[in-house]
Amino acid sequence: MCGIVAAAAKREVSEILLEGLRRLEYRGYDSAGIALVDNDKNLQLHKALGRVAELESAQRQRPLLGCLGIAHTRWATHGVPSAANAHPHTAGNRFAVVHNGIIENHAVLRSDLEGRGIVFLSQTDTEVIVHLIDQLRPTCSDLLATVQQVVKKLEGAYAIAVIDSDEPETLVVARDGSPLVIGLGIGEMFAGSDTLALRSVTDTFIYLEDGDIGCLKAGSYEVFDSTGATIEREVSQLEPPKKDDLLGSYDHYMLKEIHEQPQRLRDTIPPGKPPSALDFGASAAEVFSRTKAVQIIACGTSYHAGLVAKYWIEAFAKIPCSVEVASELRYREPVVVDGTLIVSISQSGETADTLAAINHLGGQGLARLAVCNVDHSAIVRASELVFLTQAGAEIGVASTKAFTTQLAALMALTDQLAGITNKNDYHGIFASAMASAPAAVTAVLALEPKIKAMANHFVAKHHALFLGRGVFYPIAMEGALKLKEISYIHAEAYPAGELKHGPLALVDSDMPVVAVAPNNALLEKLRSNLEEVRARGGELFVFADEASGFESGPGVHVLAMPHCDELAAPIAYTVALQLLSYYVAVARGTDVDKPRNLAKSVTVE
Ligand code: F6R
Repeated sequence: MCGIVAAAAKREVSEILLEGLRRLEYRGYDSAGIALVDNDKNLQLHKALGRVAELESAQRQRPLLGCLGIAHTRWATHGVPSAANAHPHTAGNRFAVVHNGIIENHAVLRSDLEGRGIVFLSQTDTEVIVHLIDQLRPTCSDLLATVQQVVKKLEGAYAIAVIDSDEPETLVVARDGSPLVIGLGIGEMFAGSDTLALRSVTDTFIYLEDGDIGCLKAGSYEVFDSTGATIEREVSQLEPPKKDDLLGSYDHYMLKEIHEQPQRLRDTIPPGKPPSALDFGASAAEVFSRTKAVQIIACGTSYHAGLVAKYWIEAFAKIPCSVEVASELRYREPVVVDGTLIVSISQSGETADTLAAINHLGGQGLARLAVCNVDHSAIVRASELVFLTQAGAEIGVASTKAFTTQLAALMALTDQLAGITNKNDYHGIFASAMASAPAAVTAVLALEPKIKAMANHFVAKHHALFLGRGVFYPIAMEGALKLKEISYIHAEAYPAGELKHGPLALVDSDMPVVAVAPNNALLEKLRSNLEEVRARGGELFVFADEASGFESGPGVHVLAMPHCDELAAPIAYTVALQLLSYYVAVARGTDVDKPRNLAKSVTVE
């Protein structure tokens, strides 16, 4: 998704901006641009379709120099990916703007500006912002005052950074609905859509609130709230970034992140120290003790983690649990009973729909818990209780280690809730499941060569079905999502019992059917479902517990999975499916870490 980097300094900032863009590449984008104000107060611009590398090459051919600048990676919403639609957008050869979010009233604003003779150079919603600044600047005292007027005309979501070549020391930034941070340097100031973009220059940040406008100069900054009053926002000092975020000897971040999972699980649930209520927040024990129901909200892979948690919470804590995709819940009026704990699940902590859904329910006085991988993120800040997963920076667009650490965190949550309703009858089984998960994943990683060989059968396929029962249905959903995201093979997941209610009609020798078959109470039911597939000539790929009795034969490929703790099995089987998708994608030659059309941190709805 779009990324912003901006700087006001006493030194050249082009390399800082480009490094910031490189650090944001993982979010997914289609074009990029950079604008600087040079020493002669000229606005200079490079824009490119494609990768940041294109901008770097433009910069080598015609270096832009300056101490004030803004830069952007764009993920197209309004207008095709093109250099013309790439940000920054400019007006009057003087103003430049970068923008994340969507200006919902852009069509009205555009037609009004066009009526006044303004010629637009792009199809974007963003371009209205820079023309409004150009139009209003003569009636305002300075750039800051102009931006304060312009944002009053904008509807929708935005994070913007603006420069004016006539004020070569001033960077103005504003946010409403899209994330934006100010990075504090020594004698220099920065802004970015996330802290990662700025970690090469600072570890000290201010997280702007909705309605905030910041005015940054090399040696100072001021923040104003939506009324225009100066406001102090908390300064956060982050730990220095970890060195292990580098790719190392792996071919892709996704593979590196799959292999990191045993350690990331140990980081999330330290061995021998199953989390206590305090690990969820100071008031968690009291909140959990009055929790009568759980409402989980999330998107994509995080939603699948929520679906797994529903099985656990209802089975062990005996509390009703609903799970809903945030983009649906935010626009309806769900019946949420008193005593409901709102649990949001998010890797990035910035997903616009999840944040909006939390706020949608927040007005009802319900306690909010965020299970999140990024401290200080918008979702964490919108929640009273937080459990931070310790997946570390996830660079591959397809989520892997974030999902399995979410499952570990949700196991810990179930343990807490079950401890209240069942007087801790289950504490021992959760403690041993959490402790056994890293080793179970290590055992699955040892099967990598076999899974890679299995992947070859999928290379020429166009579709695949994934089947699971019980808690392994959401695991099948996650397997199907991974396969479609990175290999572009159409994949759908069904509860195996649903097969004969429709999807069986699709089964023929061209339709691989992947089954998740751990050795649990539903195994025999699943076995019958798989017989139905074989009887129709379907080719089966069964991830089965080594003790389950499944054997490979004509049209049946069995991967014998090491036996593991039943509660830890969703984590272990997920890792096998991640490897399957990864090797199918590699064999098909796709861009595994940056699959087409997708973005990492979905900050627009
Ligand atoms: C899939 C994937 C997405 C995210 C979804 C929610 O591999 O990564 O489906 O899970 O966009 O993102 P977060 O967890 O950051 O809220």
